[in-house]
Amino acid sequence: RDQPLLTIAIDGPSGSGKSSVSRAVADRLGIGYLDTGAMYRALTWWCLDQGVALTDEAAVVVAAEALPLELSTDPGDQRVVVGGTDVTAAIRTTAISAEVSKVATNTGVRPVLQQAQRDRMATISVATGGVVAEGRDITTVVAPDALVRILLTASEEARLRRRSAEVHGSADEAAIAATRDQVLRRDRDDSAVSQFTVAADGVVTVDTSDLDFDESVEAVLAVVASIAGHA
Ligand code: DC
Repeated sequence: RDQPLLTIAIDGPSGSGKSSVSRAVADRLGIGYLDTGAMYRALTWWCLDQGVALTDEAAVVVAAEALPLELSTDPGDQRVVVGGTDVTAAIRTTAISAEVSKVATNTGVRPVLQQAQRDRMATISVATGGVVAEGRDITTVVAPDALVRILLTASEEARLRRRSAEVHGSADEAAIAATRDQVLRRDRDDSAVSQFTVAADGVVTVDTSDLDFDESVEAVLAVVASIAGHA
């Protein structure tokens, strides 16, 4: 019989390991990957590049509707190109991280990017047999009908530890303290977007607080296997 398309939606806060785990899962399953946060970041970069004030909400919506975005779907090779410029590294800078929530909380922008995300998920699924799409509202708004829906969580302590190791190359007390404000502020900004810290109906929670990277990947693959095996 025909295999169902392996559409997998993964939401979670920053520091849950969401992006790296999602890419590894897509890689293991041989399907495409969609980083929806990269779309909000790319739009932020494009507005700043084009001189669109992020406080001009209507102008940002217009920019979203015509965003000239190329996003690779290969989990092993994530490249982001906007208007012909490779912004793969630029969209990860603290300058963009500090501004992106202004775009993500723009209520006119969200439906535009959400529809673009649905379209991309459909195209990737048909091309590769499935997709892992990750973000904040994928299990709830973008793809509530995905075959597998997972909320990846981690305790605040675990998320601080990971982020500080990522940013400072260490997770000693001073590094964690330096990261705390930044992580807590991101959480507060993001919670304006959606209540992604609570699993919606039918969404499976995977808590990675006590799991290392490989264990987190295996835990997600186990959820996928248990659901897809019955589909
Ligand atoms: O996951 P990330 O840090 O790359 O996300 C960047 C920003 O976009 C962050 O402020 C959360 C927001 N975002 C969102 O509102 N909805 C999504 N589906 C993905 C990200």
